[in-house]
Amino acid sequence: MSIDQLQAETLAAIAAATSPEALEAVRVAAMGKQGSITALLKTLGGMSPDERAVNGPAFNGLRETVTAALAAKKAALDEAALNAKLAAEQQDMTLPVALPAAGSIHPVSQVMDELAEIFADLGFAVADGPEIEDDWHNFSALNIPESHPARAMHDTFYIAQSPPDAKLVLRTHTSPVQIRTMMAQKPPIRIIAPGRVYRSDSDATHTPMFHQIEGLVIDKGITLAHLRWTLETFIKAFFEVDDVVLRFRPSYFPFTEPSVEVDVGYNSKTGKPAGAGQVDKWLEVLGSGMVHPRVIEACGLDPNEWQGFAFGTGVDRLAMLKYGLTDLRAFFDGDIKWLKHNGFSAFDLPSISAGANP
Ligand code: PHE
Repeated sequence: MSIDQLQAETLAAIAAATSPEALEAVRVAAMGKQGSITALLKTLGGMSPDERAVNGPAFNGLRETVTAALAAKKAALDEAALNAKLAAEQQDMTLPVALPAAGSIHPVSQVMDELAEIFADLGFAVADGPEIEDDWHNFSALNIPESHPARAMHDTFYIAQSPPDAKLVLRTHTSPVQIRTMMAQKPPIRIIAPGRVYRSDSDATHTPMFHQIEGLVIDKGITLAHLRWTLETFIKAFFEVDDVVLRFRPSYFPFTEPSVEVDVGYNSKTGKPAGAGQVDKWLEVLGSGMVHPRVIEACGLDPNEWQGFAFGTGVDRLAMLKYGLTDLRAFFDGDIKWLKHNGFSAFDLPSISAGANP
């Protein structure tokens, strides 16, 4: 075969290769150990100097031409492969993103936040106290006598290892935070205290642990009218019902005098607070009253100088009523399905201020 023919055939084979593998086979056939061009080059060794002077440049020219053609074809095939890959891996930027599974805010936490926001708008700070309380803060300072049934073992969880000078209890209400606040800071005082409380109680509407928010105002010249306005304002804002109907009933707590219980009117069909005309049921939502002079005195303040009001409300009940939840016990079961359904998005706190300042 002539050199020209060999070159023409090899270049044709290179041009015809459609994959890197096919091209490699062509390269091996021509330039590999047993390759046709390699064999041709080997013949140079057996030639006379004159023959070599003629054939050497021709053979080498052939080798260079084929080597260049192989390189060019390889570059072309690589580029085609890259383009194909790019086309295949193209991403649709308009597809919705798969978000990671998100948790949700428990209705009780949600309601606590809502309440804190409403009361912040009314100028109340948030105060805190321990859940393991001594019986002085939980009972005695609140004018709850030794004989009061709330002190009985079957109502209150006592801590067995109490120090000799103080009986420790799981606080039965958030009212001890009233005492701690009055002892720790000078009036005027305007605080709320959200938190867990404990009672030895368990049925469909009672759990041994539940949540309260305490409110306390101590100042000069505070009257029942301030209490009433504050409670009405907060309940309207919380339920986002402007004509919500409240019932103020005389009641009794050792630490307030006079004492008032407040019921919210609701519609039994919707299970939610309603305006006048739609109300056919009442739910007691809080206890309140004017702080008893003895409580003010127990905290080292002069009851002739300082007066105030206090209230305590069940957060869980408020949550049930506002969001139409029926089973109190489900609140504390930790059932993911229930939480998914009844929880709130962390990024979707309803604007409470909008409710407080319509
Ligand atoms: N501590 C009372 C309760 O748990 C509620 C209350 C608080 C009543 C403040 C009056 C004043 O029932």
